Amino acid sequence: MAKSVFSRRTFLQASAGAAGASLVPGSLLLDPDPSYAAAGPVAPSDRIRFGMVGVGMEGSGVLSTAIQLRGVECVAAADLYDGRHILAREIVGKPIRTTRRYKELLDSKDIDAILIAVPDHWHKQVVVDALAAGKDVYCEKPMSHNPADGLEMVAAYKKTDRIVQIGAQRTSSVLCAKAREMIEQGAIGELNLVEATYGRNDPNGAWEYPPPPDLSPENLDWDTWQGTAAKKPFDPLTFARWRCWKEYGTGVAGDLLVHLISGMQFVLGINEAPRRVSAFGGIYRWKDGRNMPDCHPVLYEYGNVPVYMRLMLGCESAEVTRFMGSKGSIELREFSVTYAPQAGIDLSPSYYTASYPGKMKEAYLKQWHEEHDLVPGKEPLPETITYNGNDYDDLRPHLWKFFEAVRSRKPVPQDAVFGHHAALGCHLANESYFRKTPVYWDEASASIKSMG
Ligand SMILES: NC(=O)c1ccc[n+]([C@@H]2O[C@H](COP(=O)([O-])OP(=O)(O)OC[C@H]3O[C@@H](n4cnc5c(N)ncnc54)[C@H](O)[C@@H]3O)[C@@H](O)[C@H]2O)c1
Repeated sequence: MAKSVFSRRTFLQASAGAAGASLVPGSLLLDPDPSYAAAGPVAPSDRIRFGMVGVGMEGSGVLSTAIQLRGVECVAAADLYDGRHILAREIVGKPIRTTRRYKELLDSKDIDAILIAVPDHWHKQVVVDALAAGKDVYCEKPMSHNPADGLEMVAAYKKTDRIVQIGAQRTSSVLCAKAREMIEQGAIGELNLVEATYGRNDPNGAWEYPPPPDLSPENLDWDTWQGTAAKKPFDPLTFARWRCWKEYGTGVAGDLLVHLISGMQFVLGINEAPRRVSAFGGIYRWKDGRNMPDCHPVLYEYGNVPVYMRLMLGCESAEVTRFMGSKGSIELREFSVTYAPQAGIDLSPSYYTASYPGKMKEAYLKQWHEEHDLVPGKEPLPETITYNGNDYDDLRPHLWKFFEAVRSRKPVPQDAVFGHHAALGCHLANESYFRKTPVYWDEASASIKSMG
């Protein structure tokens, strides 16, 4: 979900002045959790020193956001491309150690936590190594590149007392918290369906990024970058556009769908894999050699709730998640959450009675009105209400939650188990697409199976 830090900040500045105010009738502004913006000195014992691994498109945003947080300091950065050592020093604005070898950060005694924003195919190894070195870990979403990696990461996490937080940041937003609170209070009654959709339609949105012009085997450790994938000759396009290929990325599922799944898991308190998954789609718009679909509609069953999620790079559409229940719906968007109550009862006589002969219809209508007409002035007035808030993709609350957990040693909601389940939702969607069959997660064999 690459969104410019600029657009987030612009909104935050605009909203700060209006904090607490109502924008329009039926619309309220949610105060952001102010703790992450607090200023003032921090005792040396409470300062957290972190090392950044991966200073690319997302890592640069994570780094610049983290160093603005109180009592948090970057002391070193690792990246396989030397240009990003320069970038890391530019962002931090003071001397920090830079290296191609992330293990040097793990060996450093002055580093408490490791923030990881490398491509998906490298997540597992860096997380497992960082935990083994006793570091707390913030790792970008999707947690894993495949189910086996996820299982290894969960096992490593459970072996330690370290904090692990996965970076699907919206779970720390006030908007998701509000949606969760309303659902817990029964606002939408019985949950019957969730739908979530998002679409893009431009080369950037489809990951056709321009590689750094100076990129070469001299300033990039291309061999290490490829990890355990089959080796191929140096290719700047692969370096910049790795999301397009399953060898390194996880497609629109791991890039975008994971945010929808993580948000839904958090709002509904789900922390398990879906029961079954059926996915469709293809490469329709971006025939640039990629092997991951650019259109990916997915049907899930989470518990006994059907969930429809549609991701595509061939037509733009807003990102929306709808929780639909017997008493109304909750619609979650980037800057708002809207509750639209529904009475769930007939508000007018049944149109079926058009098929009654005259006298029968008259009698029905008379009785219906006697029994149902609302007393003037006493009509229930279900009112739609919208809560506005900071961009739910703002990184600050999520990073703040991580650093607070590093200090307090209290667990975070989006830990490795949560991250594993969210990633499994993506892997199942990809697997169903490639196998052209419905699939499920088989706990007994810890593997994805096709439905019989
Ligand atoms: N939370 C979000 O909204 C969000 C948004 C974008 C990307 N992401 C995630 O962030 C991660 C990074 O994505 P990106 O777009 O920044 O990728 P990127 O290609 O722009 O940057 C990755 C960087 O990691 C470096 N790297 C790769 N392997 C390494 C290794 N073994 N050791 C040290 N450095 C290594 C690369 O040289 C590169 O500079 C991905 O997992 C992606 O899904 C999350």
